Amino acid sequence: MRRLLMGVGKADLAIDFGTANTRVVTSGGGVLFDEPSLCCFAGDISGGELIAAGTTVRSMVNRTSGALRIVRPLHRGVLSDIAAARDYLAYAVRSSVGQRRLRSFRAVIGVPADATGAERGALLTAAKDAGLGSVELVAEPLAAAIGAGLSIDRPQGCMIIECGAGVTEAAVISLGGMCEAASIRGGGNALDAAISDYLHIRHKFLVGANTAEQVKCDLVRILENGTSASVEVSLKGRSLVTGLPGAMTISANELAPVVEKQIAEIADMVVALLARVTPELSRDIYGSGIILTGGSAAIGLVGKAVADATGLNVSVADNHPHCVALGLQRGLAH
Ligand SMILES: Nc1ncnc2c1ncn2[C@@H]1O[C@H](COP(=O)(O)OP(=O)(O)OP(=O)(O)O)[C@@H](O)[C@H]1O
Ligand SMILES: [Mg+2]
Repeated sequence: MRRLLMGVGKADLAIDFGTANTRVVTSGGGVLFDEPSLCCFAGDISGGELIAAGTTVRSMVNRTSGALRIVRPLHRGVLSDIAAARDYLAYAVRSSVGQRRLRSFRAVIGVPADATGAERGALLTAAKDAGLGSVELVAEPLAAAIGAGLSIDRPQGCMIIECGAGVTEAAVISLGGMCEAASIRGGGNALDAAISDYLHIRHKFLVGANTAEQVKCDLVRILENGTSASVEVSLKGRSLVTGLPGAMTISANELAPVVEKQIAEIADMVVALLARVTPELSRDIYGSGIILTGGSAAIGLVGKAVADATGLNVSVADNHPHCVALGLQRGLAH
């Protein structure tokens, strides 16, 4: 039943190809691959040779000479560089299954529910060019719901919010399909960008992407502990005033509105989606609440903002960063 409803035939590999991280699982195994979605190419123009991919590249971001080019294959949840996506998928699958013939593998790949035909087509092309035999795409909120352990096949509504790095998707699911869905092409990365923009504009201080992400993680931990007034976040980068390397501290209180503004957009999206849901499904969701999945579900402020805006019970799924991958895997198993 589930396989029919998801529209997926028998497959061997499930791939959660994310803006920040990619996970690969097989129908029989656990998560075989879980690395950042990053490529490093030789040369400063497209078409160079892939030098490194995944975890190795993380520490290289913002630290390369002109001889190397760091590329994220995806931007805001969808493919932005087809050659990088091809090479990265080949790397991820090879890392998972070794030197076996890739053509014999049938894969299912997660995709944002509202990806356009062109975005889906580009992903299918990249996967075929990577050497995969046949490829089917599955909407990520459906996979996330299955991975979170929800029974999506019943005539009973449930609601999921998949909180990633590049996209945040909310969906009301019943009878194996999405009855209502909404998304913001922004997620954890947008919070990082808002923090680095704020530091740039207000404090004339530049930080790299990895530093901005670390500041975000430190900040949300401090805010959730409720000690924001007294705690400062330290960071290192380059002062635009002196042009020199430097360090600064900023109070969590000063940065709090920057992340809260972004998070409020998610709560607004959820409220607008709930206003379109049928009364019977609303009744179901009133009873079951909302489940959060994805890496950014670790940000407790997201769940709190959604709970405050809706009055509903909001909880975070077990193993939330892996729900899409595990849901795709369970789809394989049926
Ligand atoms: N403890 C944490 N606190 C704050 N943010 C976190 C934490 N752990 C992970 N994140 C954020 O979660 C995001 C990564 O989540 P995930 O791996 O689900 O994204 P993705 O699948 O690559 O992206 P997408 O599905 O949007 O394409 C990053 O923005 C990361 O900073
Ligand atoms: Mg994701």
